[in-house]
Amino acid sequence: MTTIDPQAFSAALLGWYDTHHRTLPWRVSPRDRAAGTRPDPYRVWLSEIMLQQTTVAAVKAYFEKFTARWPRVEDLAGAPQADVLAAWAGLGYYARARNLHACAIAVHETHGGRFPQTAASLKALPGIGDYTSAAIAAIAFDEPAAVVDGNVERVVTRLEAIDTPLPRAKAQIRAVVASLTPDRRPGDFAQAMMDLGATICTPTKPACVLCPVRPFCTATKTAEAERFPVKPKKAAVPERRGAAFVALRPDGAVFLRKRPGSGMLGGMSEPPSSAWSARGDGALGPDAAPFAAGWRRAGEVEHGFTHFRLTLEVWRADDVQDPAIEGWWSAPDAVAGEALPTLMRKVLEAAGVSPAGGTKPATTARRTRKPAS
Ligand code: ADE
Repeated sequence: MTTIDPQAFSAALLGWYDTHHRTLPWRVSPRDRAAGTRPDPYRVWLSEIMLQQTTVAAVKAYFEKFTARWPRVEDLAGAPQADVLAAWAGLGYYARARNLHACAIAVHETHGGRFPQTAASLKALPGIGDYTSAAIAAIAFDEPAAVVDGNVERVVTRLEAIDTPLPRAKAQIRAVVASLTPDRRPGDFAQAMMDLGATICTPTKPACVLCPVRPFCTATKTAEAERFPVKPKKAAVPERRGAAFVALRPDGAVFLRKRPGSGMLGGMSEPPSSAWSARGDGALGPDAAPFAAGWRRAGEVEHGFTHFRLTLEVWRADDVQDPAIEGWWSAPDAVAGEALPTLMRKVLEAAGVSPAGGTKPATTARRTRKPAS
């Protein structure tokens, strides 16, 4: 597994964490934790779901917004799904928001509003996998579960100079973390490993001279930390294309509809868009529009998803009255509150409609190309 002495390792790591931990809105500080304050499982769960595939910096404001509006799991369970999706808009990976809501309902209805307390039982809930179940069990319930996220993978592959590329190295990494995780303070240990990865053992230019576990690290001895983790060769990112149709009423309202409940951006709102084809020959002009109108090309937007890159041609029509399809008119002051994913906000911008409300005259609609966020 590892030749590192777990007790000496924990002592060094936790000593560092006691003074250098990050202050985060969902976190109980090690001092308060030692004085008996227990983390609220709801806040731990909510933060861990938000932090899947999203940075701490991006999550903070969403976490504050959600906990102010829905302070307890039963509040979130009682919210309409549309409100949860609208509050999540911009965070990405929207299946997380649907699962978040489903999980809140399950905890409320099946578990009497109390989260199950073991990693194994947490994993049975919607949206909770290996990482999240271990993180909640360790942080909220003191289970010495092996918590392995991307930060921890980086720390461990360096500690042990693991040459096996990811994801093949995952089992080995997990075994090392399992043998290092202490029975005392497993939640602080997990958070300390994450903080170490985020602040010292960074992907590039790690601050090895400041590292509290430097004496245990194999990679730093030969100044090779940046070589780990070894990653597999990147495959080319596939391209997809589609078209989006922004219809405007004379009063500036924009026509929106709801995407199907499952699949990409499921349940989120959009100006009607075509299917996203991997073939270059799909119809991307007014022929692909869901209803006839005076469509004019307004630009195109690009967006990076995990497994492909999407280009949407954007079409705009003014003075539309009555599209014969399901959907609704969103007034300029209502657009900001719609469940519009970042991609669809870019589409509106490309068509000259401010996603924060307000519409430019048709002639000023311009092409926008933004890096994916
Ligand atoms: N990233 C994911 N979960 C985290 C946590 N609990 N603390 C710090 N960073 C994290």
